Amino acid sequence: MAVREPVVSIRNVSKTYASGFEALKHVDLDIHRGEIFALLGPNGAGKTTLISIICGIVNASSGTVVADGHDIVADYRGARSKIGLVPQELSTDTFETVWSTLRFSRGLFGKPPDAAHLERVLRDLSLWDKRNDKIMTLSGGMKRRVLIAKALAHEPQILFLDEPTAGVDVELRHDMWQMVRRLRENGTTIILTTHYIEEAEEMADRIGVIRKGELILVEDKKTLMRQLGSKQLAISLQAPLADIPSGLADLPLTLSEGGHSLVYTFDTQSEDTGIAPLLRRLHEQGIDFKDLHSSESSLEDIFVSLVRAPA
Ligand SMILES: Nc1ncnc2c1ncn2[C@@H]1O[C@H](COP(=O)(O)OP(=O)(O)OP(=O)(O)O)[C@@H](O)[C@H]1O
Ligand SMILES: [Mg+2]
Repeated sequence: MAVREPVVSIRNVSKTYASGFEALKHVDLDIHRGEIFALLGPNGAGKTTLISIICGIVNASSGTVVADGHDIVADYRGARSKIGLVPQELSTDTFETVWSTLRFSRGLFGKPPDAAHLERVLRDLSLWDKRNDKIMTLSGGMKRRVLIAKALAHEPQILFLDEPTAGVDVELRHDMWQMVRRLRENGTTIILTTHYIEEAEEMADRIGVIRKGELILVEDKKTLMRQLGSKQLAISLQAPLADIPSGLADLPLTLSEGGHSLVYTFDTQSEDTGIAPLLRRLHEQGIDFKDLHSSESSLEDIFVSLVRAPA
């Protein structure tokens, strides 16, 4: 693959809030043009802080960010015009209609009116029927769609979605995934944060994990899942066990489902899974089972293990 051009370059960005809290520590990150980048991390990790810095809402304490060739401080307007932001917090208690909000938002970025573009955005988000409604009369999920429409009104090159699918129904979530893919096909770069790991697994090209203000990992999603993936074999027992028998203590086994299931974890990279000797030893121990079920570790497992691991 060709070397990819960064569309956002974040260099050594740190943020200490006025309270003295260090929310970001020396973050370095390049976002590639045209990718979908998912930023994962537990509550309070610094995701929104990082996005807010790139979008010029929060000032970094140190470091630099260049967005599509524009320094976000020295050339704030230039940078901001390239960026669309769907914020995490809804602030949409407005008497304005959907349509006038979109028109206004586009104008704010100095773009000439383009009713056809706004209509396309509203139709894509199933909001066309609501265009003349006051935003405050819409449901929570619809308000979130309005925020997305607003972020797209000025045709940004770079779109930030901070928890775009928090509190939206399954159907809208899938619609949004489709919309995000369509945007990417048209060349938009997308950076999203999410607590639905499934969403990152489904959507992202690359994944960054942030923990306590530090970017602890940035990796191609496929590589990540291959490298860190382990497989599990769940063995449903005929009779429950109170403990792992001492004769099996040397094996990577855990009990689950109240002792009704033995779970064996093995590395997908290793040549010998050890399953044949495992089953032989279960037999020797007189442990009967009724079912075997194997599963690949999901991005969720990988994420949980990363976030819990000591620094
Ligand atoms: N204005 C502020 N003043 C002081 N501390 C702040 C401020 N904004 C955020 N923080 C703190 O910075 C840390 C990171 O917050 P941030 O909102 O970036 O987290 P997050 O990763 O987006 O979390 P979540 O998943 O809950 O949205 C938190 O500990 C938060 O309390
Ligand atoms: Mg946040």
